[in-house]
Amino acid sequence: MSHPDELIHARYGEIPFNVDVEWNNTLNTLLSHRSVRGYQTKPLPYRTLELLVASAQSAATSSNLQTWSVVAVENQERKEELATLAGNQAHIRQCPLFLVWLADLARLAYIAESRGMSYDGLDYLEMFTMATIDAALAAQNAVIAAESLGLGTVYIGAMRNKPVEVADVLQLPPSVFAVFGLCVGYPEPDIAYSVKPRLPQSAILHRETYKLAEQEEPIARYNQVMKDFYTQQQMNVAGDWSEHSVKRIATSQSLSGRDKLRQALNHLGFKLK
Ligand SMILES: Cc1cc2nc3c(=O)[nH]c(=O)nc-3n(C[C@H](O)[C@H](O)[C@H](O)COP(=O)(O)O)c2cc1C
Repeated sequence: MSHPDELIHARYGEIPFNVDVEWNNTLNTLLSHRSVRGYQTKPLPYRTLELLVASAQSAATSSNLQTWSVVAVENQERKEELATLAGNQAHIRQCPLFLVWLADLARLAYIAESRGMSYDGLDYLEMFTMATIDAALAAQNAVIAAESLGLGTVYIGAMRNKPVEVADVLQLPPSVFAVFGLCVGYPEPDIAYSVKPRLPQSAILHRETYKLAEQEEPIARYNQVMKDFYTQQQMNVAGDWSEHSVKRIATSQSLSGRDKLRQALNHLGFKLK
């Protein structure tokens, strides 16, 4: 286990508070998180997939409806296809296990149909949101389980760049949508994966009521922390975090095809009323 101060410092670029509880493995795993974008070809230990899915299924799920599923992709050709659809991200090709997390309303529709009951409620944005939240909570549990086993992961939101094509590759039925992918594998040992700092808590944590203007100072402080991080990591990032982030939302083109997500979801059977 690492020393808590070390992890808190890595997470914020400073030590804004003292840890007063007895440090444990769970906190250690959570605070050590960093995305991994280079993998060994080494296969995962026997039954790792099942353990990751059991961890995912242990997450809370709205009304116990369990409106999510996951497709485990290990076939190299299929990983290649998905990598191509996700802007050619090499780590998708490289990782031994690629998990695609699905918002899944098809199972409930199927159950309703088999019981001869209507399922008009599935047509609403609320049900889509519920399924997406369920999928995200499940996936994050799997991430923590994987990291606790010494594995690395990285989410792949780029599955949403071409959602209809992804649905085709995975043979998804109507009302099932790939929310994101997740690479899983042993990290490439020659690459150092550092903990990436986050915004100061004074920007994120609001006590009693929300405050926007007060975030200016911590955001400025974070820009400096991230500038130092980019330099330290030899990352070629133009400008500071604010500039980089604003570029991601500047125009519809900045969304890498995801500006057409609503139409794609309609096409996949989600009415989003
Ligand atoms: C929903 C989601 C989608 C993401 N999509 C991608 C992706 O397509 N490619 C990638 O390399 N990283 C992706 N990431 C990883 C983020 O870039 C990463 O979590 C963020 O920069 C913070 O770094 P850290 O995870 O190392 O702390 C994604 C993360 C999330 C939560």
